Amino acid sequence: MAELQEEGISFDAGKEFYNPHMHLCRSFSSLVVGTLPEVKVLDAFSASGIRGLRYAKENPNVSSLEMVDVSADAVALCRQNAERNGIKAKAHEAEFNKFIIGKEGDYDLLEIDPFGSPAPYSYNAIRSFRFKKEGFLSITATDTAVLCGAHANACMRIYHSVPLHEEIYHEAGVRILWKCIAHIAGEFDFGIVPLATFSHRHFFKLFLKLEKGAEKGVKCFRKTGYLILCPHCRYRHGGEVASEICPKCGKKAKWAGPLWLGELHEPKTLEKMLALNAERNYSHKEKLDKEIKLMQGEIGMPPYFFNIHSTCGHLDIQPPPKTEVLLEKLRGEGFRAVRTHFSPIGVKTDADICSLAKSLQATK
Ligand SMILES: C[S@@+](CC[C@H](N)C(=O)[O-])C[C@H]1O[C@@H](n2cnc3c(N)ncnc32)[C@H](O)[C@@H]1O
Ligand SMILES: [Zn+2]
Repeated sequence: MAELQEEGISFDAGKEFYNPHMHLCRSFSSLVVGTLPEVKVLDAFSASGIRGLRYAKENPNVSSLEMVDVSADAVALCRQNAERNGIKAKAHEAEFNKFIIGKEGDYDLLEIDPFGSPAPYSYNAIRSFRFKKEGFLSITATDTAVLCGAHANACMRIYHSVPLHEEIYHEAGVRILWKCIAHIAGEFDFGIVPLATFSHRHFFKLFLKLEKGAEKGVKCFRKTGYLILCPHCRYRHGGEVASEICPKCGKKAKWAGPLWLGELHEPKTLEKMLALNAERNYSHKEKLDKEIKLMQGEIGMPPYFFNIHSTCGHLDIQPPPKTEVLLEKLRGEGFRAVRTHFSPIGVKTDADICSLAKSLQATK
């Protein structure tokens, strides 16, 4: 393949080791990496190495970089691309689960970016930190159809949770993945601190800090629970138990879980990411700024949102109001209300469905 360019790195990716649609994800991720303390990085599913190479080039806090890929061709590209860009890095041809055994404590940040589900790698990734007080993980999932409920059986098998194939499926799906990570972390006496969560097109990206402490693990366990969504009256709720009966209208409700009900982002991380993004000239600079600001708004809000169009469809309000008009109305009524990065027509609010309906009626 001809020479490729991404944010100042020129590299070769052969015929199959580069996905240009993940450029935005790599830039988002590199911003998170820039907010961390000094880190030794293992880019464990490196393909051409572009991700790890960008982390190392863009972030002075990356003190060393190693790369792993099961493909000999990918590893050859990693070596060549590191050299071409003057970046010091070791590359290993290995299967991740075999490679990481016996490397406990060697790395501070593991980059887990496989094809499809990260589930088969999460246990060994978290286990590798077990003798450390803290560690950082960056995890990609591209099996979003499974997590979002298009394949419910696969979700139950792989993630041990019931998914929700409803209007908030992206948020429910990413929360199922967070639950899995939190539960595995608990097995090794770690609590998790979600630093940033990005849902975009076909991928979820999770960044987290592992913090040693059995109590922290228990606290995180208690942050997992269930989402209930009633398809009849549009009631929704996140809590410790699931229910098949809607507490509002008494009809059959849908539920999903167990899933993570805690925060998806850490305020300081997002603040630092915004500052770093302002200094960098990424080709997705404006998009990143917008997404990170939406994430800031999500902090402290309920673990779900309302899709304005489907809520209006249910209430027979046509055409739906502009999002900004609804937000103003809700805020005027004393509710908190923000947009969400999960959907351009989504609103997170602490108003219940009845109050939301009143605000929507009032926008007519
Ligand atoms: C989605 S690509 C990684 C993309 C890369 N991080 C980037 O941003 O361009 C997944 C890579 O993981 C490699 N891979 C798949 N299974 C693996 C395993 N079990 N251990 C190590 N590498 C693996 C594949 O050869 C492929 O190059
Ligand atoms: Zn109901």
